[in-house]
Amino acid sequence: MSLSTRARDFLAIEGLSAGQLVELLDAAERMLPVVVGGKATGDQSFSQALRGRVVANIFFEDSTRTRVSFEIAAKRLGAEVVNIGATGSSASKGESLVDTARNIEAMGVDVIVLRTAISGGAAMVAQRVRCPVINAGDGRHEHPTQGLLDALTLRLRLGDLAQKRVAIVGDISNSRVARSTTHALVALGARVVAVGPPALIPVGFDQLAGNGNITITHDIDAIIGEIDAIMMLRVQLERAAGAAIASDYRAAFGLTSARRARLRAGVPILHPGPINRGIEIDDAVADDLEDSMIMTQVSCGVAARMAVLLRAIAT
Ligand code: CP
Repeated sequence: MSLSTRARDFLAIEGLSAGQLVELLDAAERMLPVVVGGKATGDQSFSQALRGRVVANIFFEDSTRTRVSFEIAAKRLGAEVVNIGATGSSASKGESLVDTARNIEAMGVDVIVLRTAISGGAAMVAQRVRCPVINAGDGRHEHPTQGLLDALTLRLRLGDLAQKRVAIVGDISNSRVARSTTHALVALGARVVAVGPPALIPVGFDQLAGNGNITITHDIDAIIGEIDAIMMLRVQLERAAGAAIASDYRAAFGLTSARRARLRAGVPILHPGPINRGIEIDDAVADDLEDSMIMTQVSCGVAARMAVLLRAIAT
């Protein structure tokens, strides 16, 4: 049975079942060989699956990983891509997000991939266009393809995530990644420990998913030796809270080489990027060849976005 247009939207991880997530993760994993091995590698059956389709990347916030990986994902599936940014478009003249999206849709695109600083902006646009909308990060709300790629990265390394204990460390308050990845991990049965200074963990974050699988601590050293995986978040230096804590952050919460030595052997280290080297993570830890999964996350990002694009617009 084909999905309705609105069921093809991908606006949030919140609300997705474990079964829906596993379906997407399985699809992404099937596509990963093409990403890491090149065009002639892996299953070629989907290489023209989106031939003749047009993907509109509307990115009204800066991005390296998400924008480029959506573009590569679309091209791997045979689609054409148009990129629209805040500069160089009529957004700079005051055109609203919804008006921009409606005008782009009127040109005949098949899906809109949207990044915006407006929390809830992707859902707002989805209410006003007919084509599917994929949220590529909306304000502090969600970054659902990041949640998917983080879960895929962890699944590749750890297998079944049920009961695995994953620490997410840093600026939880400002992080759409923390929200999406937490929703994904909890839906898959993992336990999340949110770690950070009190000012950067919102009150009630442990109730986000409502099944008792989220805990909060302000003491990274108390849990560092007990976890199965760790994901460091970027200190958002462009925001006041981030700038205010930056000088003390490494000593209090950074994944230094000394702390890394206290992790259990083989614990995977994740970071969604972009990273602030020497603040939330030391160079030697970020670049570790065995346990840093940061580049694996980037590769998984292309595969996850292929799966989401196929779900959105393949017939
Ligand atoms: N992780 C992530 O969203 O990175 P970009 O901001 O570069 O897309």
